[in-house]
Order: sequence, then C-alpha cells, then structure tokens
Amino acid sequence: MVIGVTGASGRLGRAVVDELLIRGVPAERIVAIVRNPQETTDLSDSGVRVEYGDYDWRDTLTGALPGVNRLLLISSSSRQRRVRQHRSVIDAAVRTGVESIAYTSMVRAQGNPTMLAEAHRGTEAMLRASPIPWTMLRHDWYWENYTAGLDAVIARGELLGAAGAGRVSGAAIADYAAAAATVLTTDGHAGVVYELGGDYALSGVQIAGCIAAVAHRPVAYRMLEPDAYAEALVETGLPRSVAAEAADNEIGIAAGWFDMRSGDLHRLIGRDTTPLSSVVRTALREYGSQFAERSETGNPDRGGHL
Ligand SMILES: NC(=O)c1ccc[n+]([C@@H]2O[C@H](COP(=O)([O-])OP(=O)(O)OC[C@H]3O[C@@H](n4cnc5c(N)ncnc54)[C@H](OP(=O)(O)O)[C@@H]3O)[C@@H](O)[C@H]2O)c1
Repeated sequence: MVIGVTGASGRLGRAVVDELLIRGVPAERIVAIVRNPQETTDLSDSGVRVEYGDYDWRDTLTGALPGVNRLLLISSSSRQRRVRQHRSVIDAAVRTGVESIAYTSMVRAQGNPTMLAEAHRGTEAMLRASPIPWTMLRHDWYWENYTAGLDAVIARGELLGAAGAGRVSGAAIADYAAAAATVLTTDGHAGVVYELGGDYALSGVQIAGCIAAVAHRPVAYRMLEPDAYAEALVETGLPRSVAAEAADNEIGIAAGWFDMRSGDLHRLIGRDTTPLSSVVRTALREYGSQFAERSETGNPDRGGHL
C-alpha cells in the first residue's frame, strides 16, 4: 500500500507525512507530492519519496501518481484556480489507477454559504462523479488561524471580529493531520463524509479570553460590522479580496456554520482535540514572542478548553 499526499510542503501536508511516519508507515511507502521539490529537502531526508506535481500542470501529476494506491488531496491554497486545479489532480488520479482519494473539504460544505465553501462544494461534486472511491474530510477552522499576528493582537489588547456570539469548533492542524492519517491507514472510509470539528466551540469573546489567559495580558473582543472588519484588515495590509473573504467567514461563523461538534474528529484520532490554549502557547514560543515567557507560568487552561 502506497500513500500519496499532495500539498506535502504545506503545514497540513507536512503534519500528515510526520503522522504517517510516527504510525510506522515505511518511508518508502509515502509519496510526498510538491511543486518545488528543491525546497523540501527535509522531506526527502526523512526517506519519503518526493515527487514533482503542480496542480496547474496535469502532466506533472500523471508523472507523480503512478504506484500511489491511496491519495490525500489537500485543497489548494490558490483562491481563483482551486476547482480547476483539483480537477487536474482527480483526472490524473483516474488515469494512473489511484484506488481512493481523501479530500480536505470544509465543514458543512453542502450548504455552507461562505465564499470559501464554493470551491469545496465543486470539488466534492467532481469526486462524487469520478470512478474513484472518495472520503470527505470536511474541516472546521484551524486554531492556528487565530495565531497569525498574535503579538499585535496581544500588544493592542484587542481581537477584532465580526462573528458576534457565533462559535467555532476549531482544532489544531495536528488533529486534522492525525484524522487524515487514520483514514489513509485504515479501511472502511469509502463514501464517508466526516464533519471534523474540535470537541468544544468558542465564541470570539472566549477566544480573546484564552489568548489573554495564556499571555497574561488583557485582550478584549471587539465586534465590528463585517464591512468595518474587512476595512480594518485592509488597514493591516491584507489584500481587499482576502479581507472580504475573512469578513464573509465571520458572517458564516455568526450564523453557526462553524459550530460542528459532531465528534467525528475525536473518534478518528482517538483522543481529545487540542485546546486553543496549547496552540496559542506553542505559537508564542515558536515565533519567539515577547509574551512567550509569561505564557509558560501558571495554568491558563483553568481546567477547561480555554
Ligand atoms: N480550515 C482552515 O481553517 C484552513 C486554514 C488555512 C488553509 N486551509 C486550506 O487547507 C489547505 C492546507 O492548509 P495549510 O495550512 O497546509 O496550507 P499551506 O501551508 O499554505 O499549504 C498549501 C499547500 O498547497 C500547495 N500548493 C499550492 N498551490 C499548488 C500548486 N499549484 N501545485 C501543487 N501544490 C500547490 C503548497 O505548495 P507550496 O509549498 O509550493 O506553496 C502547499 O504545500 C490550504 O491549501 C487551504 O485550502 C484551511
């Protein structure tokens, strides 16, 4: 059994490869598919087979996939070309005899009204129409989404948002990677849609409270209207299209689309999902944050998920 992972140079892809190795999958039975093999020497150093495959060039994918039995298709980070790119991967998988595809979709993809969900819906439809058995790994938010620009949030004492009391049942990238590894290394997942969210769901106020507790600094949640939120993100340097998408996500959170406590993730990984506090603490340490040292003292978890 040979397992292929696309997007293997990204955060999730690397975590999946690591998880497969930890679980004892022989390195020579893992194919890491990347578009820049020369920049992923650490992957090849680990003994896994690194293959060149670019979502934009189907021929590179038909070159990368022969011999792969089970494939994890990690959704592309491209915003405009995502569906076309995923079609190329699925076409190449059909041509090369891949036996199953697990796809990293979005939570409640079928009805989820956010802009981001559209490409996931389109990809799920292509997979359902393909002859290859599929598994949908519908992801909720990564807790890591809240650790980008964390120092600035802590220094300002303010987490901006537009989601009101809406809750996110996030989880760590490592949790989603572990779930993917389970699906790739065990049987019985064909035709299954997993709605993967963390064990607990947090509102913006609770997320700000968690960051404050870990950093030992006051951080309040400041609720803005979606347009004002997008504008505030543009002022921090985000492109307008990305800011609009982020504001649209907040509307989706406010409406409850990202509160997904199905238990699927917990069952697939066989343990509690990672609390936001530990993702925040790790991020502060890894980024060499000025707030890291204080986060190591005390117990900000206070016995709960925060
Ligand atoms: N649920 C959430 O909260 C959430 C948050 C962020 C992202 N996501 C989605 O989940 C995916 C994985 O997340 P991540 O954090 O691992 O993202 P990431 O670190 O940005 O990784 C994206 C991966 O896709 C690869 N890729 C992009 N364009 C490609 C192309 N044309 N051909 C081949 N590979 C290509 C990247 O390759 P390079 O290394 O060469 O760029 C990278 O390996 C993202 O792509 C996005 O669709 C979900």
